[in-house]
Amino acid sequence: MITRVGHAPRRLRRVFASVALAATLAASAASAQQIWRPGDPARGAALAATCAGCHGAHGAAPIPGAPALASQQPEFLKLQLVLMREGLRDVPAMTGTLKGLTDRDLVDIATYYAAARPFRSPPARDPALYARGETLSGAMGCNSCHMGDYSGQRQVPRLVNQREDYLAGALRAYRDDRRSGTDTSMNAVMYKAADSDIAAIAHYLAQRTEGTADAPSTKASPGVVLR
Ligand code: HEC
Ligand code: HEC
Repeated sequence: MITRVGHAPRRLRRVFASVALAATLAASAASAQQIWRPGDPARGAALAATCAGCHGAHGAAPIPGAPALASQQPEFLKLQLVLMREGLRDVPAMTGTLKGLTDRDLVDIATYYAAARPFRSPPARDPALYARGETLSGAMGCNSCHMGDYSGQRQVPRLVNQREDYLAGALRAYRDDRRSGTDTSMNAVMYKAADSDIAAIAHYLAQRTEGTADAPSTKASPGVVLR
């Protein structure tokens, strides 16, 4: 199911990044325990005061380019925060903000945002663009990892309840190799995707209502679990 595009230097880079991440996470047993212990959302809310300028009150995303964090998968948030703090995902806007935050702080912040009231794009559905995005998402197998209703699982992010401009920007970044996660699956999925296809997919996901955190899907999900 996971197709990978042969690209040795990029792969190698990701291997190094993964090793660095593993080393960071394993730096001490205490640190690992901090990452997996249950978070304290009240403490997270207080720590997240510095994030609100860009991510909005309770992570509801008022600014173009800055993602909604509200109702995002907590494992995804924790992992991304560690990646960004360690410079393995380079987000210059956030480098200063994350410096000095401990693993425990990141767990609490992630717990707080995961439980926050979901962001919702204003309804502005373009029926033709939406239908095209729906077809493409199905054909490209996005739901095999992001779940049937695109609500995400573990370290695979929720795609519904997200800003359309951010989704499109993230997909272009994967395609152009400016972003990859702990593996290159997203780069492989987006390899050579056209801008117009990306626009349709982002529109579909942002305008989709089924499976959103405020209208959960009743359909069974495929239940793929990634390690
Ligand atoms: C100066 C603006 C700014 C501030 C302050 C800021 N962020 Fe961000 N953040 C961004 C931008 C812009 C991105 C998207 C980067 C990209 O396109 O890859 C981002 C991305 C993220 C992501 C990745 C989400 C995803 O869906 O991939 C997380 C998690 C996050 N920020 C959490 C935080 C937290 C927690 C704080 C406070 C401790 C914070 N940010 C402060 C601008 C900011
Ligand atoms: C093989 C599994 C897999 C498939 C198939 C897949 N994804 Fe992903 N996706 C992931 C993982 C894992 C991440 C987190 C990567 C990271 O850490 O940057 C991700 C991240 C993303 C993000 C970033 C979201 C954010 O908040 O930063 C977007 C957008 C996305 N995927 C959209 C899609 C779309 C659209 C498709 C289909 C065209 C797709 N994905 C197919 C596994 C997958």
